[in-house]
Amino acid sequence: MSAAGDSLVTPARKAAPPGLPSLPSLSDGYQAFRDFVNPLLAARAELMGEPWQLVRVAGDGRLVDVDGRLVEDLLAGWGTQAFGHRPAAIERALTAFLAGDAPSYYPSSVSPWAGLLARALCQRVGAGGYDAAFFASGGTEAVEAALKLARAATGRPRILALEGAFHGCTYGSLAMMHDGAYRAPFGPALPLVDRLPFDDVAALERALAGGDVAAVVVEPIQVEAGVRVLSAEYVAALGELTARAGALLVADEIQTGLGRTGRMLASDGWPRRPDVVTLGKALGGGLMPVSAVLTRRQVFAAAYGTHATAESHASTFSGNALACVAALAGLELLSDELLQRVAVVGARWRAALAARLAGLPLLGDVRGEGLLVGIELRDVEHPWLSFEYLGLPELGGRSAAGLMLVHRLFRAGYGTGVCGHDWTTLRLQPPLVIDEARLDGFVDACGRELEYLCQLG
Ligand SMILES: Cc1ncc(COP(=O)(O)O)c(C=O)c1O
Repeated sequence: MSAAGDSLVTPARKAAPPGLPSLPSLSDGYQAFRDFVNPLLAARAELMGEPWQLVRVAGDGRLVDVDGRLVEDLLAGWGTQAFGHRPAAIERALTAFLAGDAPSYYPSSVSPWAGLLARALCQRVGAGGYDAAFFASGGTEAVEAALKLARAATGRPRILALEGAFHGCTYGSLAMMHDGAYRAPFGPALPLVDRLPFDDVAALERALAGGDVAAVVVEPIQVEAGVRVLSAEYVAALGELTARAGALLVADEIQTGLGRTGRMLASDGWPRRPDVVTLGKALGGGLMPVSAVLTRRQVFAAAYGTHATAESHASTFSGNALACVAALAGLELLSDELLQRVAVVGARWRAALAARLAGLPLLGDVRGEGLLVGIELRDVEHPWLSFEYLGLPELGGRSAAGLMLVHRLFRAGYGTGVCGHDWTTLRLQPPLVIDEARLDGFVDACGRELEYLCQLG
C-alpha cells in the first residue's frame, strides 16, 4: 500500500475471550452478501475500488483487509463513526451494561434509559434549546417522526422541503427527496409535500403565504447534493418567515449534528433556533443504531399532550437500553474541546486541500464546515472519464471522474465517496478524533490522484 504510508499489518483477528462463542467467518459473509443480499451493490463496491474484504479495525482506527492492507475511512461509516471505528469508550459502556442485570426492554415503554438520554441531549445542547426528546433507530424514522409531530402539533397538512434534499428512504422522507434514482421508482409520492428551490427566499415566502404549512424541513448543509451550505441570509429568512407563518422549522441534523461542523448542532447560532431537530448516525457511538427528535415541550404537548394521543406515535425499539447506553457514552466524548478542535482542524484541512488542488483543471471547488468537506470536480466531457468507457452505458451521460477518484483513493488507502445526488462532488467526513498528520497525508494523496486524472482528461 502506498499513500496511507506504512507497511501492511497482520490481519489477525482478536480471539474471543474464553467462554464466548466464536463468530462466523467474515469472508463467508462477504460471499453470502453477494448471494443473498444485493449482488449489484457488491459489484459497485468493487467498481469504487473496494474489492477487499475488510475484517478488522487496527489499533489506530484504520480498517484492515484480509491481506493486511489498511484503509483510512474518511467517510467515518457515512458519519456513524465520529469517534473512530470501534471506539473503546463506547465498547466499555456497552460491556458494562451487558455485565449487569438491568432490563433491556420495559413493558410500559417507559424506558429509564430513554429518560437519561433525553435529559443528557437537551442539557448538552444547552440554554435556549430543547426540553423534549424521543427516539427511534434509523435517521429516516426520526424524520418521519418530525413530520408527524409537525402535522399533529399544527393541525396543518403541507410540508415544505428543498431541492437537493436527502432525508431518508421511507415514504415521508422520500416525498422530500431530490429527483433521481432514490425517488424515481417509488411514486406517487406522499401528497402535500413541496420542494422549493435551494436558498431562494422569495420562493419560501410565496410557499408560506397560504397559511397551511405545518413545517419547513431543511438540512443546514445538504451533503448528498454536494455539501451545499445554506446561506446566512436564507437561514435568517427561514427563522423569520416560519415564525410569522406559524410553521415549524425542522432542521435535519442527522449528518451535521453532534459536532460534525465544530458546533454541537450546525443550527447553533441560527437567529431563530429550529423548533425541531433530528439526529442519528453518530448518535449511537458507531456501535448501535439510534436516532432522536429534539423539540420543545410545548410543541410535543400540542401533538401528544392528551391521554388519547400520548401514544399516537410509537416505535418498538425506541429507547432500548443498549442504544441509549451507547449514545450516553458518545455524548460524554463530545466535549467543548473536541468541538473546538473539529472547527480548527477542519478549517486548516479545507485550506490545505484548496491550496494543494488549486489550478488543477478538474477542480471546481472545496467547501464545507468543520470536518464535513466537499471537493467538487468539473463535469468534463472526456471519453476516458465516462461511464461508457468503464463499460457502464446505463450510467452514461455524466462524468465518471468523481467515482474514478474514489476508486484511485481507495487503492491508495483512503475510503471516500461521492455525494448521492451529485457524483461530481467527493464527500469527506473523517472521524472527529482523527489525527491531523493523517489528514495531511490525504492532502498529498488527493493531489497526486487528481493530477493523474487531469492528465487523462
Ligand atoms: C440528512 C439526512 N437525513 C436523514 C438520513 C436518513 O438516515 P438513515 O439512513 O439512518 O435512515 C440521512 C442519511 O444519510 C441523511 O443524510
